[in-house]
Amino acid sequence: AIIPLILAGGSGTRLWPLSRKSYPKQFAPLIGEGSLFQQSLARLCPPEFGAPLVVTGDDFRFIVTEQMQTAGVNPGAVLIEPEGRNTAPAVLAAAMHLSETEPDALILVAPSDHVIPDDAAFRGAVEQGRAAAEAGQIVTFGIRPTAPETGYGWLELAPDAGAGAQPLVRFVEKPQADAAQQMLDAGNYLWNAGLFLFSARTILAAFRAHAPALIDPVGNAVANAKPDLGFLRLDPGAWAGAQDISIDYAVMERADNLTVVPYEGRWSDLGSWKAVATEMGPDADGNALSGPSTAINCTNTLLRAEDAAQQVVGLNLDNIAVVAMRDAVLVADMDSAQEVKKAVDALKSKG
Ligand code: GDD
Ligand code: MG
Repeated sequence: AIIPLILAGGSGTRLWPLSRKSYPKQFAPLIGEGSLFQQSLARLCPPEFGAPLVVTGDDFRFIVTEQMQTAGVNPGAVLIEPEGRNTAPAVLAAAMHLSETEPDALILVAPSDHVIPDDAAFRGAVEQGRAAAEAGQIVTFGIRPTAPETGYGWLELAPDAGAGAQPLVRFVEKPQADAAQQMLDAGNYLWNAGLFLFSARTILAAFRAHAPALIDPVGNAVANAKPDLGFLRLDPGAWAGAQDISIDYAVMERADNLTVVPYEGRWSDLGSWKAVATEMGPDADGNALSGPSTAINCTNTLLRAEDAAQQVVGLNLDNIAVVAMRDAVLVADMDSAQEVKKAVDALKSKG
């Protein structure tokens, strides 16, 4: 079975005020049944997938346990990062831990904060990548792009590309706006979905080749990890020496053994409230409502009452997002939804 490696340590600031430093979006009830983290667990279940490895931060360890219990999932291991060092150290630590017992295991790196509603399509795509991963490739999954997104990785396909698993020509992480526009216009690029399939052996070799400075600090953090109440606590002293870098920059942009499987099913990383509104399935007037909210003569709004005792009423609104929590309310132009991080920064500087 493929071992899911679930990354659950991100902070998701663009979905403030629902997503908080102490309770980021992957753990919050956002869309569908349960949290996005629980939906990820459900998607990555037997028989195709084995017991998951979860990597998360100290602050989230009890949320993770509680949500796994509720979902009826027993983890293979829960690795605790002393502090967030981005995805490269997180993936390397989990791969090193796993390879102590299963050096040839196949690993599927999976974000915990995405919406991928079509289980059959998802499993089909993973299956399409399996042979390449077994043969030593790092398999990426590509989404057909619809906008010049600068927050994504872009995957260049060969000009004569067909369907199914194929060699990846180039991986470009978070391009500048003009480069993103060129890639969108060129047509032979896909967005990186943020899912990766490879064997433990392959990814360790890739880290050794492309990010050798991570090997010692992360290796020591794993070798000296302490079991603690069912968690595996990475050694803080060693971990502090690991560079803060994403796997996309550390490995994917540099590796030459990349494969891509185009993914046609629905996918969203819920990167903004606008994206959430789209995934909620708006009504005929384009309004996406949750909780006790009411839209009167509104178009293209998002009205979310996160507290069941709260009424949110929109009157004659167009293109407005409202997210009401008990202690904080966001009111934003829908097209400024990408800039919500600014609101968080403004609050931080107010102290
Ligand atoms: N454990 C742990 N520790 N998890 C982390 C950490 C960390 O320090 N940092 C981020 N994560 C988790 C996030 O919760 C998320 O599930 C996943 O790792 C990806 O991190 P993001 O910070 O959300 O990355 P991104 O959205 O900027 O970019 C990635 O995803 C895009 C698609 O959504 C890249 O892979 C892009 O290439 C890709 O297009
Ligand atoms: Mg993301």
